[in-house]
Amino acid sequence: MVNQAYQLPFRRVGQDVFIWAKAQILSPERISIGDSVIIDDFVFLMGGEETILASFIHIGAFSSVLGGGYLIMEDFAGISSGVRVFTGNEDYLGECLTNPAVPSPYRLPTRSSVHIKKHVIIGANTVILPGVTIGEGAAIGANSLVTKDCDPWTIYAGSPVRPFKIRQREKIIGLEIRLRSELYDQQGNYIPKIQRKPASGERAHNI
Ligand SMILES: CC(C)(COP(=O)(O)OP(=O)(O)OC[C@H]1O[C@@H](n2cnc3c(N)ncnc32)[C@H](O)[C@@H]1OP(=O)(O)O)[C@@H](O)C(=O)NCCC(=O)NCCS
Repeated sequence: MVNQAYQLPFRRVGQDVFIWAKAQILSPERISIGDSVIIDDFVFLMGGEETILASFIHIGAFSSVLGGGYLIMEDFAGISSGVRVFTGNEDYLGECLTNPAVPSPYRLPTRSSVHIKKHVIIGANTVILPGVTIGEGAAIGANSLVTKDCDPWTIYAGSPVRPFKIRQREKIIGLEIRLRSELYDQQGNYIPKIQRKPASGERAHNI
């Protein structure tokens, strides 16, 4: 089991970060990673202009981040398997030629951003297009297409997504507060797994 987290030259990498050996990370010097982050095998992650993965983040197997723009994933955000996040785009309307094999000025790609806020969960095989902010606590159902901003604490699904339920904000925020009281010291520093007292029946381990 090889962990790439402490081998690649990231801009910043925190503690308890596990990046599986078969994940492909491009431009790691443009990527900042917080604490307790897991990136699965077969993830394809381009650092783009800048990528910020905060803490308690998971990127599931076969997901990709492409497009060369900005990605921010806030604390407790998770991407399930096979999700496609695009932070940039080609011109689809016929103003110029398209695709990365075509040189400038014949091709005019746009660089944009995707912002995935705290406690967001993205269902398997969802596609997120550039320029989108997914509001705090929103959940996106499997196989969805996100073309516009999504409201906080709302469950969306479909292609394109439509809101259809409210998510339980109080419960999730309450659990976050409890978790932070256990996993951060009084100065607000993250306590790595290796330094934690194992709860009864639980073994301390590194991944
Ligand atoms: C969106 C989701 C959270 C909704 O869960 P739920 O509230 O239990 O929804 P229900 O199963 O009661 O379905 C409600 C309606 O939404 C539809 N629906 C559910 N998920 C949908 C989806 N992903 N896309 C389109 N429609 C969906 C259902 O068909 C149903 O429609 P109907 O009322 O016409 O029969 C869930 O279906 C989902 O997609 N979860 C993501 C799971 C995933 O990707 N897991 C990967 C591992 S983390």
